[in-house]
Amino acid sequence: MFSAIEPADLSPLQALDLSLWPLDRSVQVFIKRDDLLFDARAPYFCGNKWRKLKYNLLAARKQGHTTLLTFGGAYSNHILATADAGQLFGFSTIGIVRGEEHVPLNFTLRNAQKRGMFLHYLDRTTYRKKNTTEILQRLEAEFGPCYVIPEGGTNALAMQGCAKLGPEIEGQFGESPKYIALSCGTGGTMAGLLSGLEMEQTKVIGFSALKGDFLQQEVQDLLAENQRQTKASWQINTDYHFGGYAKFKPELIDFIRRFKMVYDIALDPVYTGKLFYGVFDLIGKGSFPNGSRIVVVHSGGLQGIRGFEERRGKMW
Ligand SMILES: Cc1ncc(COP(=O)(O)O)c(C=O)c1O
Repeated sequence: MFSAIEPADLSPLQALDLSLWPLDRSVQVFIKRDDLLFDARAPYFCGNKWRKLKYNLLAARKQGHTTLLTFGGAYSNHILATADAGQLFGFSTIGIVRGEEHVPLNFTLRNAQKRGMFLHYLDRTTYRKKNTTEILQRLEAEFGPCYVIPEGGTNALAMQGCAKLGPEIEGQFGESPKYIALSCGTGGTMAGLLSGLEMEQTKVIGFSALKGDFLQQEVQDLLAENQRQTKASWQINTDYHFGGYAKFKPELIDFIRRFKMVYDIALDPVYTGKLFYGVFDLIGKGSFPNGSRIVVVHSGGLQGIRGFEERRGKMW
């Protein structure tokens, strides 16, 4: 039943024409188009969510589960991706949402619900304890046995899915790129990518979408907890969070609009917009040596644009 989504497994690697952007630097940029990694029947089950959920869905099915239960904020890409994947593959889904219910529902939750997800709200204090045995037992008592996927989808099986990203890029590239850049929230995608990279000369830069400098430790812990190592060197860049998770500034929105106009590629204001802004800014500042080939991972998440638009007006 999962074979139907296999062909979407290989997302394109696309060269970006930097002569279209006022950047006077001799580097090359390629986009790993994971935003195109989806099944047309479930377009929000896409990008890094596709990679993170794939092995979890297989495990849930193998263990005989019929219900997926997961966690997220009201604008979570992961919540909607899980609802979409659940509907596609015949799982019931329960979304445990942080905070109070707001009616009418926003785009994310409305569409999760449309896909059959049952939404259950936890106040912020209880939500913070969501991974404790007490809360998990309480949820199980209420909803019955479920396959539980953590917030953001990050677990060992998610890392297994993301570990394919490196060899895929290396295969499509023919050699190892000097740099791979990607957006980070929980760090799961980055830890998975790092664990799968075969070539030592690649440097991976994770651009944090959140304020704070905890992600370096988080990625290290994820690698250690899952007994995985990496051959690549890596770092977390914390300079482009624009004030924190889901925060933005007008220059970020201008950048996203311009990027769409020039390359006809949409970026979202929460993750990939900040990532590409950061990469282009660093290129402009000469932070990448001349001749560098940089692969930037477009991890999807474009439904985030709709949430932005509901609050702020049309993006384009
Ligand atoms: C589109 C997109 N890119 C990147 C990330 C960050 O991924 P991770 O939480 O694995 O660091 C997320 C978060 O979930 C996301 O939705």
